[in-house]
Parts: sequence; structure tokens; C-alpha cells
Amino acid sequence: MPLVNAKEMLLRATKERYAVGAFNVTNLIQLEAVVEAATERKAPLIIQTSVTPSKFLRPKVIAAIYRTLAESTPIPVCLHLDHCNDVEYCNTCADAGYTNIMIDASKQDFKENIRQTKKVCDYCHAIGDISVEGELGTVAGVEDQVKVAEDEAALCDPERALEFITETGVDIFAPAIGTAHGVYKTKNPKLDFSRLQRIAEIINGKQPRTPLVIHGGTGLQPDVVKRLVSLGGSKFNVSTDLKHSLIDTAYEYIASHRDEYNPGKIDVAVKEAIKGRITYWIDLLGCAGKAS
Ligand code: 13P
Repeated sequence: MPLVNAKEMLLRATKERYAVGAFNVTNLIQLEAVVEAATERKAPLIIQTSVTPSKFLRPKVIAAIYRTLAESTPIPVCLHLDHCNDVEYCNTCADAGYTNIMIDASKQDFKENIRQTKKVCDYCHAIGDISVEGELGTVAGVEDQVKVAEDEAALCDPERALEFITETGVDIFAPAIGTAHGVYKTKNPKLDFSRLQRIAEIINGKQPRTPLVIHGGTGLQPDVVKRLVSLGGSKFNVSTDLKHSLIDTAYEYIASHRDEYNPGKIDVAVKEAIKGRITYWIDLLGCAGKAS
């Protein structure tokens, strides 16, 4: 299939109460692992790059590789730019072939967040079938260039969520509800489930209109993940888990094969490990078999 945007696949997920995995990758091995695992599980897929890997590999190169991989699999694949706080770079990636763009102006005040998010929406909607994700409230932790200290994190005001969506025309909405990027300090982080429920009721209660995104997937317990999905989270972001899997696997492989100089074997080990993690998430999120 050609690359698709995120909105249609997530509207279906919202209706049927499952979530699509949105996996951050930094290189080709991860990318192939993600596509292969999703293809085997017949799951729709969102592949994400943060801004630094996107700039390092260059947006046009990434889009060309993704397009080739997407066209060789029967599952729908969306290519998403994650947490970009620069309107110009959002537009550059849209021009290059990304099919979903996240403008993260959540650290700005409400009016400025609306202004920047709307600017990206207007641009993406004018040039093609590109959907846009915006965020209200701030997610704690570090995701590439976006760093939010715990005492800076603010939860999304449900009463303002609808205004934000209506004013910006955003296609997908990430409300801050207490999840955080990176590794949680406790097994049971304090999440505001009722806030998510309220936001889902306000926005998608009568009819699904703007799918909701859960950031900070790594480290959440399976029952918590399922609860967030049942309350209306339909795009589920996972990044740190895959970084750990890549680095730990490569490190362990090299440490136990110190006399071997065959990089391809490290790639095989890393790819298998990442595929295992992706399969775990796809099954937990309930999106296996939802590709058609
Ligand atoms: P984690 O790194 O905590 O999995 O969060 C991923 C994320 O939300 C990317 O936007």
C-alpha cells in the first residue's frame, strides 16, 4: 500500500476501541523490524521520527525509504514527524512526503499554541492528504528536543480541548493526562483517567471526530495500557522501549562475540529483538488483524 495519513486509520480505531502503535525509529534496521512485525500481525502502523533523527537522515531520504517499504507491504503505514516545535520544519517534512505531522507548541500559551498549530494544519491540508497532531497541556520528560520538567508539566483542560480542536482544525489530538516520556520512576505513575474519559466524551462522544493520542507508552503496565485504550486513546506512542531494546541487544551481542567482526549479525540480533517488542505492543493494543 502507499503511505497513508493517520486520521482514517485512527477514526476506525476510535470506533472499534483499539489503538494503533506509533513507534519511534532512528535507523533502517528498526524501521524494517517495525514494518515486518506489523505485517506479520496484519496491523495498521504508524512509524515516527523525532526531529533529530529526521534531520540526521534527511526528510526526503527517510520518506523515500518509508515509501518503498510501505509499498511492499499490504498493511497501511503512516509516516509521522514527532514533537516538532518549529513550524517551518513541520512544513519541510510535509513537503518531503511525511503523511502525519505533529506540531508541538504545547509549551506556548493557549493562543500561541492555537496560532502555530493552525498554521501547520492550513499548510498540510492545502498541499495534500496530510494529517496533523497537536498537543494541549505538556507531557513531562524528554523526547528529543522537547524537554519538560515534572514541575512544568500541565494537564490538558478538558473544557479548552474542543476550542483548541475547532480553532486549529487539527486532525489528531494529544491531551496531557499524566503520562511521561522516558522511564517512569514508579511502577504506578499517577495518571488522570477521568480527565481522559471526559475529553473523549467531549470530543468523540457523539461521533468519533478527532482521535486521541497517548504519549509516553514505555513502562506502562499492561492493564493501564488497556484502560487508556478503552477510554479512547487510539494512537499509542512508544519510543524509549525501542531505544533500550536496540542498545541493550547490540551491546550484549558485541560483548558475547568479542572476536567477531560481522556487523550484519548485530543487525540481525537487533532486528529480532525489536520485532519482539513491536509484536508485544501490537497484541496489547488490540490492533492485530485490523489492517484490512
Ligand atoms: P516513551 O519514550 O515514553 O515511550 O514515549 C514515546 C512518545 O510519547 C513519543 O512521542
